[in-house]
Amino acid sequence: MNNNYSPQLNIAVNAALLAGKIIMRFYSRLENLKIMSKGHNDYVSEADQEAEKIITETLMKAYPQYKITAEESGSNNIKSEYEWFVDPLDGTTNFIHGIPQFAVSIGLCKEGVPILGVIYDPFKNELFCAEKGKGALMNDKKIRVAKCSSIKSAIFGMGIPYRKKDHSGAYIETLRTLMEARCGSIRRLGAAALDMAYVASGRLDGFWEFNLKPWDIAAGSIIVLESGGHVSDLNNSENYLQSGNILAANINLHQDVVDKLSQDLT
Ligand code: IPD
Ligand code: CA
Ligand code: CA
Repeated sequence: MNNNYSPQLNIAVNAALLAGKIIMRFYSRLENLKIMSKGHNDYVSEADQEAEKIITETLMKAYPQYKITAEESGSNNIKSEYEWFVDPLDGTTNFIHGIPQFAVSIGLCKEGVPILGVIYDPFKNELFCAEKGKGALMNDKKIRVAKCSSIKSAIFGMGIPYRKKDHSGAYIETLRTLMEARCGSIRRLGAAALDMAYVASGRLDGFWEFNLKPWDIAAGSIIVLESGGHVSDLNNSENYLQSGNILAANINLHQDVVDKLSQDLT
């Protein structure tokens, strides 16, 4: 780990690596995995719960005065200008189906603004991290967004709703717009945090999804920003952490994509 980074980032990396070990232990014997339903198409497994436990314990031990909001256990209700957002296993649907595209995501916000983030894919052993003003890394190597400046050759990631019907019209319209623009290609990879890490590392040129939670995107947004990309909601406002509607893209494309997709939302 680069020594230039803060103790907070190092603690978050440790927590993510510990969680990754737990997740891979469960992944190696998926047939025995206990899965509980939280709602329609919304599942939590022992892997999510145990990974979250080790992450929150590690963060709380190091920073007992910080607020934590974690997907499965909620918030510790501490009042603080610092707040961790923890998604112990992003891509649970992939995970329980044996599709190796899932990650741990840990972001830290100060006064509501992401200041550092860690996304760890334990299957591929890829660790993405960034801290405000210090750039972004994957496994200790600097990463940059891609340079592609034309929608016609750009590769996008997107979400597709499967729990609620919310935003289905907007999804269809935005998908249609990029298809009709004959963009390079569109993927639905199934783990929003990794989609953002892939924008940061230039594997994708852009990613959009509606209705995400801060634990899905707090880490990813700072990693994209620090790798030279741009993050906004689909109307180009900075409100994405609150709205959950996000467009992350390389800097050469972001404005063109906003111009195209924002028309679909009116
Ligand atoms: C989900 C994944 C998925 C996205 C959903 C998220 P989870 O997170 O990131 O790609 O489309 O909106 O809720 O539930 O697997 O942590
Ligand atoms: Ca998630
Ligand atoms: Ca999750």
